Amino acid sequence: MAAIQRHGKFSLVLSGGGTPQALFDLLGSPAIASRIDWQHTHLLWADERCVAPTADGSNYRQAKTAIIDRVPIPPENVWRVKGELDPAAAAADYTRQLLRFADGAAVPKFDLVLLGMGSDGHTASLFPKSPIEAEGVAIAVEAQYGDRPARRVSLTPSAINGARHVWFLVTGAGKAEMVKTVVSGEHNPVLYPAQRIRPKSQNLLWFLDEKAARTNCLTTH
Ligand code: 6PG
Repeated sequence: MAAIQRHGKFSLVLSGGGTPQALFDLLGSPAIASRIDWQHTHLLWADERCVAPTADGSNYRQAKTAIIDRVPIPPENVWRVKGELDPAAAAADYTRQLLRFADGAAVPKFDLVLLGMGSDGHTASLFPKSPIEAEGVAIAVEAQYGDRPARRVSLTPSAINGARHVWFLVTGAGKAEMVKTVVSGEHNPVLYPAQRIRPKSQNLLWFLDEKAARTNCLTTH
């Protein structure tokens, strides 16, 4: 992998939710996993729910089951958000981890950040009407998301925007209108947090299925 040849490691930042499950299953499958240099691959998270790492809602648990338990990745290459802590403590701990990962830089430079998007335009755990920017690289999030409380940790937009590559993976007709709004509609990053994602590298790709691309001229991958 080019990243490993260039700077000795490949860092992949994961999101949770249902959309990436098929990709996780593929990454953990023998045919694909055998082609990845796990010794030099690092896994991190764009956000995490503040639940135990063994709980159903844990993004870490989702990746552990589909990928980590099936591949020879060294434990020290897995940078887990400690969801068992309260949001503030978990965010502080993850920030310390990320600064260690950044190896002296103020903001870690991830190779690839995988993001999903909700039909309300949220991404990671950056929800509509939340403050646009926040200091640092990880923040505690306590919000009422839809009809349920969200106690989470999220990367800040600046942490995500420092990445070499950012990919959105979005599927389903229910998100088509929001994809169109975020990509080519009213610019309102307060209401549509996915619009806060503007990587300095300008390497931003949207991977959509036919249904999510329905109202766009975007090609589907
Ligand atoms: C999370 C994700 C979140 C997700 C969107 C889309 O922890 O839930 O990080 O931002 O990407 O909510 O979720 P779906 O893929 O389930 O539609």
